[in-house]
Amino acid sequence: MTNQRERILIVDDEAAIRRLLRQKLSRQGYHCEEAGSAMEALDKMRSYSAELIMLDMRMPGKSGIDLLPELKATYPNTAVIMETAVTETSLAIQCMKQGADDYINKPFNLDEVALSVDKTLEKRRLELQIKEYQEHLQQKVDQQTVEIRRLFLGAIEALVFALEAKDKYTAGHSRRVTEVALAIGRELNLPEDDIEDLRWGSLLHDVGKIAVDQFIQNKPGKLTPAEYEHIMIHAQVGAGIVRPVVNDRVVEMVEHHHDRYNGTGLHQVVVGKDIPLGARILAVADAFDAMTSNRPYRPAMPVEEARQEIRRCIGTQFDPVVASAFLGIGASGIVLEKGKATVVADTPARP
Ligand SMILES: [Fe+2]
Repeated sequence: MTNQRERILIVDDEAAIRRLLRQKLSRQGYHCEEAGSAMEALDKMRSYSAELIMLDMRMPGKSGIDLLPELKATYPNTAVIMETAVTETSLAIQCMKQGADDYINKPFNLDEVALSVDKTLEKRRLELQIKEYQEHLQQKVDQQTVEIRRLFLGAIEALVFALEAKDKYTAGHSRRVTEVALAIGRELNLPEDDIEDLRWGSLLHDVGKIAVDQFIQNKPGKLTPAEYEHIMIHAQVGAGIVRPVVNDRVVEMVEHHHDRYNGTGLHQVVVGKDIPLGARILAVADAFDAMTSNRPYRPAMPVEEARQEIRRCIGTQFDPVVASAFLGIGASGIVLEKGKATVVADTPARP
């Protein structure tokens, strides 16, 4: 099947051969242009962009063999048919390994030339259609993956809010921690991808509390070591819950958000800068919200006092860089909302 719009560039140093091919292929319905050398071919392709190039293997100066890789690199969607002498079949096969689509022997049988051109262009059209379909399909799969992930994370987020809402001491905790953590992330000039991970790590950091006994969590008095250990399993449990749907960095934030900078946290295995940065940020944001919230065993601490406490724990509980970034937000950037501390920051809407 021929297509009037399909263009062929005939590259041959012999004008008589170019004319012969042009006449035949024009009669077949193709639009043809000629080039007498490799350099002229490259020049023509800049404006002509043919769908097919008939390329003479032997030409003075740069040969068709030398030109082929350059053409395929610059115009990967342009098909190439090599013109060869009968004695050069092995070279022609070599050219096909380098990306040529077919070869025709000189002297030409013009009907065979036309057949090769038709077949090559048909194959090219099919290849382009498949390529376009695959790209479209990949795009669709990517879109669906994002949508499924968004829905699933949204469901987990709703679960977190529901979990917190039934307890007056923790209601809204994850949302406020997210605001503080993102403000610290922005103070540290983290790239947008890291901010996005931090957003999810913050929202999900306490999802493992689903496995914690409410009576122990809300116990008015001091916790026993066993009770404290029970509560702290939420970091590991939470990491397990979110692992199938978030990336490793978010999982690590959830898993390590109770790690202390100096390594004295319960069952802690990493210390200092080896603790994932997102977890070090969460540690500060989490502690700040906990301190400025009422608890069964104590009232909320004023914002300035909580800031002083974070300053006091620099280097022991908190990463100095992260804690300094938090303190850099300044007390004026933190306001009390419905009795709770929150950060006034320019944070984009949740996905
Ligand atoms: Fe926690």
